[in-house]
Amino acid sequence: MLSTDDTELLCRVGPGTPMGDLMRQYWMPLIYSWEIPPDGQPKRVRVLGEDLLAWRSSDGTPSFTQERCPHRGASMFYGRNEEDGLRCAYHGWKFDVTGQCIEMPNEVAESNFKNKVQITAYKGADYGGMTWIYMGPRQENPPGVPEFEWGEVPDDQRALYRKAVYEWNWMQSLEGEMDSTHVYFLHARNKREESPKFGLFHTGLSAKFHLREADYGLMYAAEREEEDGNVYWRTTNFMFPFYGMFPGSPTSVPLSIYVPIDDTHTLHMGVRWHPTEKMKGALWPVDDLPANKGELIDGMGPMRPEQKGKFFSDWWPEARIDTDFLMDQESKKLNFTGIPSVRLQDAAVLQSMGPIMDRTVEHLCTTDAAIIKVRRKLINAAKLLRDDGVIPPGVDNPEWYRLRTCNVSLARDTDWEEELADWHYARTTEYPSSGVPQGSTR
Ligand code: FES
Ligand SMILES: [Fe+2]
Repeated sequence: MLSTDDTELLCRVGPGTPMGDLMRQYWMPLIYSWEIPPDGQPKRVRVLGEDLLAWRSSDGTPSFTQERCPHRGASMFYGRNEEDGLRCAYHGWKFDVTGQCIEMPNEVAESNFKNKVQITAYKGADYGGMTWIYMGPRQENPPGVPEFEWGEVPDDQRALYRKAVYEWNWMQSLEGEMDSTHVYFLHARNKREESPKFGLFHTGLSAKFHLREADYGLMYAAEREEEDGNVYWRTTNFMFPFYGMFPGSPTSVPLSIYVPIDDTHTLHMGVRWHPTEKMKGALWPVDDLPANKGELIDGMGPMRPEQKGKFFSDWWPEARIDTDFLMDQESKKLNFTGIPSVRLQDAAVLQSMGPIMDRTVEHLCTTDAAIIKVRRKLINAAKLLRDDGVIPPGVDNPEWYRLRTCNVSLARDTDWEEELADWHYARTTEYPSSGVPQGSTR
């Protein structure tokens, strides 16, 4: 369990909170780069409780500026993005990417008032097909963007395959990534021989956890017995501040990103990549948004078009608590929940915990060891920053993010750490074993 005070510290991310201040030290991926073309329509975003507009100026520079105009408070969403600036629709005030007011055409000619007006503006950067925001104190000289391998590989070796707004706190989702034993319950298909699309299958319902503290956060391996006498290893990474890397496979390395929108909304993005091979389902073309076609986007869609007017308006899934996450009794014959995709199964349990889970009433067991450790690391880092100004892990070490995970069956006496290290630290492009256990598809 976690006390109310620690839960508040861990979960709340608004301006001036310890965890919000910790998050602001990091670059955060927020929007696909193609969503904001030069001189295009600004997009409403909210991050760490701040309402902003994401836009790109004529010369291609991305920027995140406060949504409300400082003149009389109109939303600049309705403005014009033209000639290297964003112009408010109400009286024409215009701002550049740094937030400086550069034109005030309704003011008398002799006024220099525009020079005194500056709006909140945060730096943007493009990396790996996404536009990232830096909201920290080093706006003039920010740290480097985390050097994830998916940002280094060619575009067709990367799939930015999932994006969704969740209506619960970011930490609930991150804890779900640190929780290996739920996969063969919540995500289980009922029989080994059913198609993998109905979920995962393994007879090892419990697991032994091996935790390894790391500079970047935490790695853990979950150990299970195989029926053939080998040992099945699933490795998972937590990377500061909100990345969970669940077990990779010979066909891809996966990453789950949980950017806190505010205390009770989370932006989830999923990335998969391969160090050498082309990926299926790489970048979506701009004019072919799955949300517009009502398609299931890797199990998350269709999206709700009526969300116009909200932040991240294209990315609110229709499957949610008031549609029972599309649970049906026919599917229940094939999988554990009757909910038709792995991500919706996660979403159902995570939203059912409430907007911010009350952790004073939980009863954690040995297989929750990684959850306990990750909470503690985040709380300690936020306190160290608040009390002593210590820069949190990874901010100034973007190279630490070049990591992978895996999902393999190894002979009983093999040292998993040694055997898998070259793959985990991206020192080889050879997957450590082709022996992924039967039925384990993640
Ligand atoms: S409210 Fe924006 S220019 Fe007047
Ligand atoms: Fe899950």
